[in-house]
Amino acid sequence: MLKTTYFYEEMGTYGSYPCKFICNDNNIYVVKHNGDNTRNKHLINEYIAFQLAQTINLRVPDYALVQIDQGLFERTHHFRGGRPDGVAFGSKWIDGTIKNLDTQSYYIVGKSDDSISLAKNLLKIIIFDIWLINDDRAYNNPNVIVCENHNNTYLYAIDHAAIFANQSYINLEREKEHCPTREDTLVNHPMFDEVCRYFDSLFKYEIDIIVEQITSVPEPVIKQIIASIPYEWKISATEKALILDFLISRQKMLNDNVYEIINI
Ligand SMILES: Nc1ncnc2c1ncn2[C@@H]1O[C@H](COP(=O)(O)OP(=O)(O)OP(=O)(O)O)[C@@H](O)[C@H]1O
Ligand SMILES: [Mg+2]
Repeated sequence: MLKTTYFYEEMGTYGSYPCKFICNDNNIYVVKHNGDNTRNKHLINEYIAFQLAQTINLRVPDYALVQIDQGLFERTHHFRGGRPDGVAFGSKWIDGTIKNLDTQSYYIVGKSDDSISLAKNLLKIIIFDIWLINDDRAYNNPNVIVCENHNNTYLYAIDHAAIFANQSYINLEREKEHCPTREDTLVNHPMFDEVCRYFDSLFKYEIDIIVEQITSVPEPVIKQIIASIPYEWKISATEKALILDFLISRQKMLNDNVYEIINI
């Protein structure tokens, strides 16, 4: 586990109130924390989603568990999201020229040297969100970072604090049956139209490859990710079982959900 060594600031966003720190590997991290022991769910969600993303080769920033050193800020320092404490979740700062995907940046598909990867990347983010029912990635809040590097453009999926339909784990039994709407996903984003145009007749083929990749993530791999959730985040055995059941059940219904949302 890393340790924070320098505190920059609390960031200006309104979801998880992350803080920017340097850690003892000398890298900068956007750190989501428990807000003075008031909440852990967003940390657990980030932890699960980042690992599942890596399992299916969906590009996310590197991440690390981070032990907060409270000696780095004044006792009186005001934090909107509560004082960082304990074990937190760090997303490693992405190097290069980065910006948040916005509604104007759809044109980048077809302009990059590696447009195929870019188009596949967006499609994978959408199908991943349908699997996990990510409640916080939509047209007006894509939670995607665009990174430009020489002539290539890459997308990074960030912010998985609101997966599992942003519900308490106890509600997952009911929520797992729910199919997100187009508006709940980036299917509504202008960049998606560019992706459809780009793939043209190969579109269904590309969708099926991604669905197959997600549905073949083995249950033991998912179990292992859930079992490794830090015990400091106080998740019960019942909640872990509900999360596992949600993910496995939704693997089985993923294909139907995807074709309900993406009409081709
Ligand atoms: N690894 C990273 N590298 C660079 N910038 C990042 C990284 N992770 C997050 N950011 C930046 O920090 C912002 C906040 O991150 P994130 O969306 O995860 O937090 P949040 O508080 O839940 O945000 P919001 O409520 O606005 O969605 C992002 O919009 C992005 O600009
Ligand atoms: Mg966000």
